[in-house]
Amino acid sequence: MAIGERTASERIAAERQRYVARGVATTPLVVARAEGARVWDVDGREYVDFAGGLGCQNTGHGFAAAAVHEQVDKYLHQCFMVGMYEPYVEVCRLLDELWPGDSETRSLLLNSGAEAIENAVKVARVATGRPAAVAFDHAFHGRTNLTMALTAKVVPYKDGFGPLAPEVYRAALDIDDVKRVFKQDVNPERVACVVLEPVQGEGGFIPMPEDFPRRLKGLCEEHGILYVDDEVQSGVGRTGPVWAIEHYEVEPDLLVSGKSLGGGLPLAAVTGKAELMDAVPPGGLGGTFGGNPLACAAAIAVLHKVATLEFRARAEELGRRIRARLEALAAGEVRGLGPMLALEFAEKTPERASRITAAARERGLVLLSCGMYGNVIRILVPLTIDDELLERGLGLLEEAFDDADAA
Ligand SMILES: Cc1ncc(COP(=O)(O)O)c(C=O)c1O
Repeated sequence: MAIGERTASERIAAERQRYVARGVATTPLVVARAEGARVWDVDGREYVDFAGGLGCQNTGHGFAAAAVHEQVDKYLHQCFMVGMYEPYVEVCRLLDELWPGDSETRSLLLNSGAEAIENAVKVARVATGRPAAVAFDHAFHGRTNLTMALTAKVVPYKDGFGPLAPEVYRAALDIDDVKRVFKQDVNPERVACVVLEPVQGEGGFIPMPEDFPRRLKGLCEEHGILYVDDEVQSGVGRTGPVWAIEHYEVEPDLLVSGKSLGGGLPLAAVTGKAELMDAVPPGGLGGTFGGNPLACAAAIAVLHKVATLEFRARAEELGRRIRARLEALAAGEVRGLGPMLALEFAEKTPERASRITAAARERGLVLLSCGMYGNVIRILVPLTIDDELLERGLGLLEEAFDDADAA
């Protein structure tokens, strides 16, 4: 390359600076192609992918491509409200088959996790005739008006974006604190639902305390409150079983999925007990693109894959291997469920985690941080990764820790 000439990455990054809103945060990586757990940038550099497009590639980049190609030639869009199509119905049937409980369910398909959480709260409000929702410390549920009110982080998610949606209350991950909220902030008879991630994602990969979901469900039942299980990041096989709530043996009332559901295409779902979902009259739920046929074709392939015993066994094995390597780093608290794992540094500042994700990128590993203080390194590797690539990625991770600490 001649002196002064820019790489393709540099040129696109400069144009991004010029044309794309600053509020959309980006890393310097400019992607050209991705396959399995590998990503190539526009300058031809290969990376091991420990981010999976932010948790959207549990089955690996390109996994659902053949199913999507087949659908492309049939029709791209109908709008389910204009013309029904089988792939939408089939996704809902599979979600019913995979429901973590015995109830008959119905599903609604949408475009994003936030949109699905909004709709779960809408359903809960209509089904109970109550206005309020309770969310929890460290929660992340999205960037729309209601979901940012449910989210527990001011900067960058809420700051300046108010007024936030009303009737949202917050509790710690502790049953006594939920009871305190019911005494102090809102009468439980006015609460439509609680919204909880079984493993909090953006909040720092915090698995729920072992008996918390069960006790919370019990408290909800006492007061006629619905339990909304947010599986947008923890679901679709990310922790081993299809849904992370299966670790806790709790049957939710409504379950929200997204991210990996569409295998990389925008798809999210609200699945819930039939009588609750059907409380909303025709026309109250939906949207132009919700349950797009291409995304549904991908989701059918994804759901079949993550429901297999082999997928779960491999995910669990990956979890054991990654956990052992993170613990060997002895750099902070390692936590998570199955292969949804993270390492939190003791210092409550983002600098060290940022240095590590930058060093990882330099070495050829795509890696993300998260957490209330940005001090958590998280692993969202595609769960179809083979041993050799996993070892390469973990080696790069260790080197990135060394680089960052030496800097
Ligand atoms: C647990 C959880 N809920 C909801 C969302 C929002 O999903 P989306 O970004 O698709 O709107 C996310 C996104 O990270 C999430 O992790």
